[in-house]
Amino acid sequence: MPDLQQTTFTLDDLRARADGRGPLPPEVRLAVLGSPVEHSLSPAMHNAALEALGSDLRYAKVECPPENLAEAVDCARRANFLGLNLTIPHKFAALELCTELDDTARQLGAVNTLLFDGSRTAGFNTDGPGLVRAIREVFSFDLRDLRVMVLGAGGGAGSAAALQCALEKCPRLVLVNRTENKAHDIAQRATELLHTDRLEGPEDPVTVIPLEASALREQLTRTDLVINATSLGMKRTDPRLIPAAILTPDLMVYDMIYRPSVTRLLEDAKSTGARTANGLSLLLHQGALSLEIWLNRPAPLEVMRRALDQVTA
Ligand SMILES: NC(=O)c1ccc[n+]([C@@H]2O[C@H](COP(=O)([O-])OP(=O)(O)OC[C@H]3O[C@@H](n4cnc5c(N)ncnc54)[C@H](OP(=O)(O)O)[C@@H]3O)[C@@H](O)[C@H]2O)c1
Repeated sequence: MPDLQQTTFTLDDLRARADGRGPLPPEVRLAVLGSPVEHSLSPAMHNAALEALGSDLRYAKVECPPENLAEAVDCARRANFLGLNLTIPHKFAALELCTELDDTARQLGAVNTLLFDGSRTAGFNTDGPGLVRAIREVFSFDLRDLRVMVLGAGGGAGSAAALQCALEKCPRLVLVNRTENKAHDIAQRATELLHTDRLEGPEDPVTVIPLEASALREQLTRTDLVINATSLGMKRTDPRLIPAAILTPDLMVYDMIYRPSVTRLLEDAKSTGARTANGLSLLLHQGALSLEIWLNRPAPLEVMRRALDQVTA
């Protein structure tokens, strides 16, 4: 068996497996499709869980260009896969490939988990519910009770976070995106999902602001939780997203980035006394929820957490 955390398989490997040959071992009946997918830590987390559960199934990562998604999903089905995870850039296009969707996937407009059942392809979204669990775990607060600012609300992860906040009926939601019109689109969808009975006051519960210091400063005074869902912070040389001087000790700051484990945003927030956490808990909880969909049994959360800690140490 190849090292499934280290090995990135290709679409050709998946095609070959569907024809009963090639390097993808028959035990591999789960995988994440993405592009790029090489960095994914999901094989380590899921294979540790599958082993701990005594399952023979194994999980791999497969590089899949956007134009080949439908074929890759078909190959996985023919290869007797149980299901798939989808990551960037497939979460939106996968909607079209599902014969049914769970409520969250429909409301967030994105799918990160597929379950094959005969001719049916059920699509789920565990990113949103995973975020709810992650925030509860790291900050001991329910997302539904927090006034939230989402940075990068127009991106894939940010729009899912923003729409999940709306589903949770967060009392206040501030959306920020470098390309502002994308945040406006998400704000419209978030407003449709929000019930107006939990308004904080007469103002609109969803506000879009530019990614600019004075607007951020003004909104941060009425924010409990800041979620960074931009890719800014992955490189040490990246510029600051928020000036350090406008961060305050009463904030909770969640950075979806987990590599590096402490981004400049988290470093700045921590030094003001704010509570901080990186995105490893989101990776863990969305993964655990996917595993529960595939296996229909509780995921061994602590085993998965340890596996992630090991590969990120
Ligand atoms: N913890 C987890 O499990 C998890 C899961 C998913 C994603 N993530 C992380 O979340 C981040 C976003 O991923 P994604 O899939 O949502 O990517 P994406 O769809 O490409 O979105 C990227 C976002 O970052 C913004 N952005 C990029 N460069 C920027 C810059 N220089 N200044 C300001 N904003 C900038 C984009 O703004 P524009 O719209 O203006 O381009 C967009 O909002 C990544 O760091 C990813 O690793 C973590």
